[in-house]
Order: sequence, then C-alpha cells, then structure tokens
Amino acid sequence: MKDDDLNNAIEKLKIENIKMQHISKIGEGAWHNVYRIERNVEEDLVLRIRKKKAYGQLQAYKDIDLITEYESSKVYYHQANQCSFNICPSVFDYFHEESVVFTVESFMGKGKILQCLSHSEAFAIGEKLGEFFKVMHRKVPELQGFGNIIWNGKHLEGQKQQEASYIWQKDNDFYLSILNSLTTTDLTFNREIVVDKILNLIENRRKNQQKISLVNQDVTPENIIFHLDKVSLIDPFPRLDFDLKYAGYFVFCYKFLLPIYSNASRYQNHEYNKNSKILSRIADGFMKGYINDNVNLLKCLLDEYILWILLEAYEHYETLNKSELDPKTLQQMGDKEMIMNRLTLCLNELEKLSSPSLTK
Ligand SMILES: Nc1ncnc2c1ncn2[C@@H]1O[C@H](COP(=O)(O)OP(=O)(O)O)[C@@H](O)[C@H]1O
Ligand SMILES: [Mg+2]
Repeated sequence: MKDDDLNNAIEKLKIENIKMQHISKIGEGAWHNVYRIERNVEEDLVLRIRKKKAYGQLQAYKDIDLITEYESSKVYYHQANQCSFNICPSVFDYFHEESVVFTVESFMGKGKILQCLSHSEAFAIGEKLGEFFKVMHRKVPELQGFGNIIWNGKHLEGQKQQEASYIWQKDNDFYLSILNSLTTTDLTFNREIVVDKILNLIENRRKNQQKISLVNQDVTPENIIFHLDKVSLIDPFPRLDFDLKYAGYFVFCYKFLLPIYSNASRYQNHEYNKNSKILSRIADGFMKGYINDNVNLLKCLLDEYILWILLEAYEHYETLNKSELDPKTLQQMGDKEMIMNRLTLCLNELEKLSSPSLTK
C-alpha cells in the first residue's frame, strides 16, 4: 500500500497531535491494512484502511456497499457490547470517499496466537464465546427482516420481509432441495443413509422453529482476539438468520471447515490443519458455553452441523460444474482438484454422521 493512503486517512481523521511515530502497522486482512495509533491520555485506536485491490482485483468504489458494511459492523458492535461489556470496539466510525476509505475503532489488544494456546485455554476461550453467542442470539435485533443486511437509504434492514414461520419452512425446504440435487448427481456416496438421516432431521427441525437473530458469518480466528481473561471480536459480517443454525456454524467452522480449507491460498499461511486440535477444543468449549447441559439443544445443534456439511458439499459440487473459476474462488477454495478432494471429505463426513450406529 502507498503511504499516500495512510497520510490521506490521517489528514481526514482530524485527531490532534498524532505523530507518524505513534502509528504502526499491526495487521492485514483480505480487505484492510490495519494500523495502531498510540495515544498518551486517551485509549489507543485502530485505523483500518480499505485496500483498493482485494483478491487480486481492483474494487470499484460503491458507497452503498460501504455504508451497508460499516453500518452493519456498527450495529453488531453496539448489540454485542450490550451483551458482553466491551467484547467489541466501543469506538467505531468510518469515512468514505473515492480517494480513501477507512474505519477508526478501539484497539482491542494483541492477544495470543492460536498455536500458542494450550488445550485448556482453547476450551476456556470457546466457552466464553459460546456464552456470549447464546446471549447475543437471545437478544431481539434492532433490525427488521431476515437475510442479508442492506442499507435502504435511511437505515439497515434484512433483505426479506416475510413471516418468520414462512421463512423457517422455506429454510427447511431449501435443505431438501439441495439434498435432492446431490442425490441425482453421479457422485459416489451412500445415498440411502444420508437421505434417511436428512429427511428425519428436517422433519424434526420443522417442528422446532428457531429465532431470528443478529448472527456473525465471519467467526474465523483472524477476527477473534484471544486474551486469556477475555475474548474480543472484530470485523464481523452480520446477517439476520436463525440462532441455533449459526451456533452450529461456529462449531462447523472450528471442527471441520477451517482445517479442510488450509490448502487454499487464502488460508494457507494460517496453517489451520496443523492447529486442528486447538480449533476443535475451541468448538468443544463453545458447545459447553452455548448449550449449558441442555441435551436436546445439543442434539439440535449437531443437526445444524450436519446441515452445514450438506450445504458445503452442495456448494463444492456447484463450483465444480462452473466452466471457469474466478480469481476469488481460486484463492478461497483452490483449483478444481482441491475442490473435488474437499467435496469427497464433505461426503465422507456426511456419511459418517448419518451412520445409524452413531445415532443409537
Ligand atoms: N480493533 C482492532 N484491535 C486490535 N487488532 C485489530 C483490530 N482490527 C484489526 N486488528 C488486527 O488486524 C487484523 C486484520 O484486521 P481485519 O479488520 O480483520 O481486516 P480485514 O477486514 O481485511 O479482514 C486482525 O486479524 C487483527 O490482528
Ligand atoms: Mg478480518
């Protein structure tokens, strides 16, 4: 990144007495270069300057998209901090114009890196996260609607405005439709047990409607700061969706998704496959914190885990059928061979979890 962007952002920030020696680069994700601003009296801040190129492609400036993204973060941080004191930045603002786009927010500390966590520390962190997400999911969101969050010119809302019970039945129908698609392919897997499992699961799921909550679709370790006494969450990707479904998503990410994505270039340097035991302990702690010994809830959460694997298998299959993969897909999922191998892992896991001996 050119220093011009940094100078430009600092000029726009209008914070007095900031010297360049108080500013240091502390991180980088796919979308932002991240700097810490050290201050004497007030709390340190973080400046996240938006990259002009992401996934190797120039990103067009679209103010509605930027407002949507950053206003969603603001709403998420606000609700999260009501649920757990300062779990997210308490300061959050953003600036956008064609020449420079940035956020300014509280510095949440450095935290421990994943591979340095002991298994008991990982479990304790997961438990804290589970307890937090339980409270977060229980809270009635300030936003109306369901699905992707959009800026309508005045405020944020969910893209779909329909009865929750209707959306719930559609959600269940969707899983049946992808099950049907997968079973009519030439893929090799034990259709009989998988179909049997998913049909039973959906029949039961329909009767247990979940609650629409403000959920986070990006819970990867890059967006969680692991302190030993507390956890901090940054860079959320919020959406309005069903509560237990997204508790299942957390477990799915930490037990299954992150390790199997380690070979894609986007995730290679994180070496999640090498740290799969630590990730798995975080997921175990999460389940304890979220479920709080409710056996029925645990069963429903594990059903959600299975449905995420079904969806992952379906998305891999769909991607494989495209004539050409775009650069973002290539970086995030890898080439067709990697995608095929991962699809096989998904189908194997699905079969394993559908096996009747497991559910007895
Ligand atoms: N508010 C913050 N406090 C402390 N560290 C942060 C903060 N925001 C970002 N970081 C650091 O910068 C890294 C990348 O930031 P992130 O906002 O996730 O970028 P991106 O939007 O590109 O994914 C994070 O993994 C974290 O290490
Ligand atoms: Mg991030």
